[in-house]
Amino acid sequence: KIAVLDCGGQYTKVIDRKVREAFIKSDIFPVGIKADSLSEYSGIILTGGPESVWEESSLRPDKDIFNLGIPILGICYGMHLITVHFGGVVSENVKKEYGESDINIDTSCPLFENLNPVETVLMSHGDSVSKLPDGFKLCASSENITAGIYNEEKKIYGVQFHPEVDMTVNGKMVFENFLRKICGIKENYSLEDRLESAIKQVKAQAGDGKVMVLVSGGVDSAVTAGILLRALNPDNIYAVHIDHGFMRKNESDIICESLSANGLKNLIRINAKDIFYKNLEGVTDPEKKRNIIGETFITELQNQMSKLNLDMDKTFIAQGTLRPDLIESGNPDVSGHAKKIKTHHNDVEIVRRAREKGFVIETNYDWHKDEVRRIAVMLGLPAEIANRQPFPGSGLAVRLLCQDGNKTVNQDENEALKELLNKTGSKYSACMLPVESVGVQGDNRTYAGFAAIFQNNDAPDWDSMYLLARTITNKLSFINRVVYVLGSGDGLENAKAHPMYVGDKCVSILREVDHLVTKRLENKKISQTFVILLPISSDSGKADGAAKKYSIAIRTFVTNDFMTGRPAPLGSEIPFSEIMDISNEIKRNFPEIEYVFYDITGKPPATCEWE
Ligand code: XMP
Repeated sequence: KIAVLDCGGQYTKVIDRKVREAFIKSDIFPVGIKADSLSEYSGIILTGGPESVWEESSLRPDKDIFNLGIPILGICYGMHLITVHFGGVVSENVKKEYGESDINIDTSCPLFENLNPVETVLMSHGDSVSKLPDGFKLCASSENITAGIYNEEKKIYGVQFHPEVDMTVNGKMVFENFLRKICGIKENYSLEDRLESAIKQVKAQAGDGKVMVLVSGGVDSAVTAGILLRALNPDNIYAVHIDHGFMRKNESDIICESLSANGLKNLIRINAKDIFYKNLEGVTDPEKKRNIIGETFITELQNQMSKLNLDMDKTFIAQGTLRPDLIESGNPDVSGHAKKIKTHHNDVEIVRRAREKGFVIETNYDWHKDEVRRIAVMLGLPAEIANRQPFPGSGLAVRLLCQDGNKTVNQDENEALKELLNKTGSKYSACMLPVESVGVQGDNRTYAGFAAIFQNNDAPDWDSMYLLARTITNKLSFINRVVYVLGSGDGLENAKAHPMYVGDKCVSILREVDHLVTKRLENKKISQTFVILLPISSDSGKADGAAKKYSIAIRTFVTNDFMTGRPAPLGSEIPFSEIMDISNEIKRNFPEIEYVFYDITGKPPATCEWE
């Protein structure tokens, strides 16, 4: 078994999952746990975290863990803890890094066996090691940053980068080396065992009680319903699908049909569009939108309970919440010390209160998306549901970048962007746009502007374009997302923002364009495909009557863990002619749309969603 000591980083749970992916059991503990309680573990992993070790009050482990003789791997903040314990120095301001980076690796270090001398990894840190700890050797570096240290005799290893996330290309091998070779673990822990224990847990929690399960149509809530059906009397299960008016095209119909075919006896569909739209009237702040949607969901659920004469204090609420949702929401029970990145609709205050009373059932609480998909297959759910792309509970509402129309481009930022492009000798033109989107920086979710790059003629070369996006977001902290303009960028420099609020017209354009794009890209190797509606245009077209008020961004995301990921490459996964054809079809069918963008940023620094 492996002990993961949580220092509050948002990737703690991903570390735990990487261990389980290797079929090894792991437990997460607060970093301060007493060393005595860890003597039965074969290895210890110290996670990343938002604090700085040079601060007096920062989180510390029990010093004795370093004397147990158990192998230790420290990741990011975890490496800093090892460094200061053994007399090294950690400093701020050497160089902060948030994103993909190429580092040099010493492949003779046991942690890096079978890796390449240069590896692409995710760096996400403010502080770094400025003096190596006594008795430790350097085994990885990126420019002047210490990226890896080790003491082979003590079996203590530290890495500045994050081997646990997808963005670190050979991160899995780093774990394999640590778990199998350095810790010497041989036993296996299977997903079947974990499904059985989830079923047992639901039986114990709900017994003969009545359970209401919210089914969105995604694989998560379908798995929850599937587990409830295995654990409880079907008469006691009430499945509720709330159509909030932000579902994709025909989605609610498809969901309800396939779930009733699956053995759910009491399936109730609620059309609640009017109330959701009314509650969101005039709201532009993304966090407020999420909260309003989450609360309206629960109010609708409570109304439904009273209609069914279910006792609110005795009815369980079941939902398909995944562990990463709770970590990203900064839920104190789960994330330990992780800072809030965003509130997920299923972790709003009212749900947290019910959870405290023991009336929330979260069957998937301990799993990640890919595990849920495997469980779906084990439960016999149709492939259509098991393989469905994820869709946020708040739906299309968070893909409308609502604003009051007063945003303008900061000219200093615009100049800095142009100067950077000049310096790199880039063949692209670029400008900032009067709209913001969300990204992640370290443990924080930040709103920042984004840049559009365009060249108006030849097909771009993906590798150099992606590298340019990386350079722009690395060098200019006010940009967390870069898009490529599909087609002409004429007039884009003077693009204006228009007021846009949640309403029938914009939701309906978004839904139709989403349908068009997702259909055309459905057979590609993409984990999530969708579009975002932006209230910006150059205002051209007004003269001929059809006011072009909107633009569309196409987002593709390739990932396993959804904590990090990359866009699908143009030119290989999606041929350039195909994406241009899609862009032209959008412009032809929707005269209100002026520009079509392709999001070319990874997470981090961008997020998958734009809000
Ligand atoms: P981000 O934007 O954080 O998204 O990179 C990661 C994954 O989570 C989904 N997502 C949500 N799912 N409620 C949900 O159920 C939400 O509020 C929410 N926000 C993001 C997103 O679609 C992606 O799959």
